[in-house]
Amino acid sequence: MSALCSGGTSRHGGGSEIDGEARCDSMILNESGARPASQDAAVNETGEPGDDRLPDRVMPAGKDRPENKTGPAVEAGNGRKGRNRRTVTALVTAGLFVLLAFAAFYRGLVVRRYNITTEKLGPGQNVRIVLIADLHSCIYGVNQEHLVDLIKKQDPDIIALAGDIADDRTPLAGTKMFLAGIREIAPVFYVSGNHECWSFRLDEIKEMIRGYGVTVLEHSRAAVTVKGARLIICGVDDPDIKLINDIGYDWEREMHKAFDGLADEPGYKILLSHRPELVDIYREFSFDLVLSGHSHGGQVRIPFILNGLYAPDQGWFPKYAGGVYRHGNMTHVVSRGVSYNPKLPRIFNPPEVVVIDINGEDPVQH
Ligand SMILES: [Fe+2]
Repeated sequence: MSALCSGGTSRHGGGSEIDGEARCDSMILNESGARPASQDAAVNETGEPGDDRLPDRVMPAGKDRPENKTGPAVEAGNGRKGRNRRTVTALVTAGLFVLLAFAAFYRGLVVRRYNITTEKLGPGQNVRIVLIADLHSCIYGVNQEHLVDLIKKQDPDIIALAGDIADDRTPLAGTKMFLAGIREIAPVFYVSGNHECWSFRLDEIKEMIRGYGVTVLEHSRAAVTVKGARLIICGVDDPDIKLINDIGYDWEREMHKAFDGLADEPGYKILLSHRPELVDIYREFSFDLVLSGHSHGGQVRIPFILNGLYAPDQGWFPKYAGGVYRHGNMTHVVSRGVSYNPKLPRIFNPPEVVVIDINGEDPVQH
């Protein structure tokens, strides 16, 4: 498995090539085929490129232009060369645009990998978590086999579901197929997202999810031991649970009620919370790792330039569109999600399965 980061090619590259070729053609008309001496000198004292028409202006009066001496056959040959070059350039440019468009709109699942090192796990203790967020009941193959097989290949110790696995407007079939497929792979932990709250059937959805052997975390925690390492897996409902809870519900207060005493517990502490933008609240507690979704990668990305154009509850150019973020001793991984909506394409932003390796290190070495 490997972290897959999309590479990209600038659209401006193709245009520059065409411009460059046009300038070359004007030089080919020279009799000797060499760059005219006057063009070599076409850089002024300030170092700025000179005017390409300069050779015409410095030709001595009364002299024939060099190309006139060569005759029509040479002119025709040079003309064909120029046309061939323009054709090749046009084909290469078109090919690059096709590749660029394929990469931009690619909607196949990719695996993205992050590595974390911690003294809280012993040397040689390695825990692998697969993080899935924002499925929105989308379906990948018969019985979700594409998604399920990809998760199975990662051989995770834990599967974390960070909200919006179900949806408020899409039938639950995709969610059920997914849960049935992953239940035998590894222990599964789930928290709700805003869309599950918006369904106003949250209790029913949670009950369905529990039916697949999944641990549903609702401002609660569960201790697990993996390869001798003690992990405390915490989880919170989405803040939009306030829409269906009693008036006076305070999400942040519920966080404190649930996790204020966490610092005293031994173990590596993980929080599942759908919303990445609430990171300042998460930092008030002693979590080592926070796993979120919700931002869908900012929908549109430009590799190496823009990590997300717009995300719900963060707006334009979101800070937490997707990836890994460090906040002191806390690591925050934000999944770009696995949903795909044909009406709202993801650009350079394929659905992703996130794999997190937490590796123990020897404290003596540091
Ligand atoms: Fe969401």
